[in-house]
Amino acid sequence: MRGIVLAGGAGSRLYPLTRVASKQLQPVYDKPMIYYPLSTLMSAGIREVLLITTPEDVARFEYLLGDGSQWGIELSYAVQPEPKGIAQAFLVGEEFIANTPVTLILGDNIFYGRIGLEQVVAEFRFGAYVFGYPVADPERYGVVDFNSDGKALSIEEKPEKPKSRYAVPGLYVYDEQVVGIARNMAPSPRGELEITDVNRAYLANGQLHVQLFDRGVAWLDSGTHDSLLEAANFIATIEHRQGIKIACLEEIALERGYVDVDHVARVVSEMPNSGYRAYLEALLAQQ
Ligand code: G1P
Repeated sequence: MRGIVLAGGAGSRLYPLTRVASKQLQPVYDKPMIYYPLSTLMSAGIREVLLITTPEDVARFEYLLGDGSQWGIELSYAVQPEPKGIAQAFLVGEEFIANTPVTLILGDNIFYGRIGLEQVVAEFRFGAYVFGYPVADPERYGVVDFNSDGKALSIEEKPEKPKSRYAVPGLYVYDEQVVGIARNMAPSPRGELEITDVNRAYLANGQLHVQLFDRGVAWLDSGTHDSLLEAANFIATIEHRQGIKIACLEEIALERGYVDVDHVARVVSEMPNSGYRAYLEALLAQQ
């Protein structure tokens, strides 16, 4: 399974922050936002990742994340010339996808807790997997409605009258049909290739699986100043209470065996003195 992180968009709601760097480079407490979706993919066992971003930001992401070898993953980059919708990621990433299943995560979606992605990825055979998460304001999202057997009945993008409270988070798993579906789609009235239309195509074929997150999962988005602050406070609260770091990519790489202790020690030795380095040094001392 390969992974795509989509970190495009104008980030206009976060202006003037986004004047100097894109939304997904902004801090969420103690690390850049992009670390969180990357950690979600890495924790699910996905090690080949394409990051799609804007022409202006691609060099900044490359500077920050490099080729991924510090975390034992393969990171490559592609550019979305204009923000023409989430589903455009499959056209930009066609060569990378190369007729294999792919997980797409949006660069501003933060997940915490047991989301079950690793199992979905490990057991994936065909079709599409999306997740469902109850929210107070479903009209802001893609909304999925399902029957008592958990079978999806409809999926709608930002409906005025949502049929359920279940938003569809920005995390999707697709088989190789997805590129063809995206290629044959027409842009929506807002001029975008909508991810919800991709999911609808799978639903029409009876191949859309919906999995609800457990209650203990937190799904946060960070596209507005308030949601960014709330996400940062959430991360800080858990990290302070437990003395752990969420989305520490070196730690995940070590835990999952993508790299060994010596490798992490070398990476850490090049970091400036910081809380992040101290955390990893303490971790290494326990090995
Ligand atoms: C996008 C998708 C929507 C999904 C959301 C998750 O919305 O179109 O279906 O629920 O991401 O973050 P947007 O960020 O474009 O408002």
